Amino acid sequence: MSFENGLIDLRSDTVTHPTPAMRQAMATADVGDDVFNDDPTVHQLEALAAALTGHTAAMFVASGTMGNLIALLTHGARGQEVIVGSQSHIYLNEGGGMAALAGLQAYPLPNQPDGTLRLEDIEAAIRTEDVHHPRTRLVCLENTQNICGGVPLSVTYTRRVADLAHSRGLQVHLDGARLFNAAVAQGVSAADLAEPADTVMFCLSKGLSAPVGSLLCGSKDFIAEARRNRKLVGGGLRQAGVLAAAGLIALDSMIERLEDDHANARALAAGLRSVPGLALRTPNPATNMVYFDLTPPARLQSDQLVDHLRRRGIVLDGDGGSHFRLVTHYWVSAADIEKTVAAFRDVLGPA
Ligand SMILES: Cc1ncc(COP(=O)(O)O)c(C=O)c1O
Repeated sequence: MSFENGLIDLRSDTVTHPTPAMRQAMATADVGDDVFNDDPTVHQLEALAAALTGHTAAMFVASGTMGNLIALLTHGARGQEVIVGSQSHIYLNEGGGMAALAGLQAYPLPNQPDGTLRLEDIEAAIRTEDVHHPRTRLVCLENTQNICGGVPLSVTYTRRVADLAHSRGLQVHLDGARLFNAAVAQGVSAADLAEPADTVMFCLSKGLSAPVGSLLCGSKDFIAEARRNRKLVGGGLRQAGVLAAAGLIALDSMIERLEDDHANARALAAGLRSVPGLALRTPNPATNMVYFDLTPPARLQSDQLVDHLRRRGIVLDGDGGSHFRLVTHYWVSAADIEKTVAAFRDVLGPA
């Protein structure tokens, strides 16, 4: 599919609009007051989310950030420590909520190029019992690991981390904002990837194209406690069934097609390989993200590149420097990828 306005928006998979089927389902959704726990469509979505991730309960939340925050609030007590990737979203891009709102302290470990945290680094970061030390409570993983290139973590690796954490009395939270991309890319189920973790958050509003919402999944007891924390942060929604209805379509019909986005990302990377002035960080993207740097002697500065492409209907986002990320999604077709590669060649190619 392409956007009706003709724009090829590669800034993120969060720019996806709801599909026509989602809009239809939203208009006719059965609803109730979800804070009173009586919205049937939310119940249906939560049951499906729990089943798909291999957990016993799930809770609908407004965003991925809220799902991660509620997980942190529920797992940890003030002053405890959380082992995170130094390149993780929960550490870098959630407003410091872990510290500001949950009172937890981050212990960042270097993400390896494949997105993993080294087991020996995790082992070494776990605090010993000592009045001077914070108590380590949680290990957070991210799958797919966004900044490392949208790389998927394997089932085996996730199990190893969980086994280590559990053997030391820690819990594991998985930021699975793009869990289904990770599953599809590796030909495994989302449950295979999510079961080893104690809790998992995944998003409906990224590659799955729903307009709003994420799910936090875990045990029945954990989710019961998490419901209190969702209320605490103002995340109790009323007739949320209108949103959950789109989420049900997302989970029913938008998972397998993520492979199209991955194929489009591979085609985009292949096309950009021969464009002068670009160095691909992800020459063979595993999922839907293509990262590149603008390198000298590129014909254009970063802001000029953004402007020139915008004039050709292609929207991208840089970090203000020479580092760029392009994300494929439902509203970017294979033809859009060809147009994008041609436009890059046009604006950066030899004069
Ligand atoms: C890896 C990861 N985790 C969490 C989030 C947060 O999701 P939201 O934007 O719904 O708060 C994002 C958002 O892009 C993300 O990329």
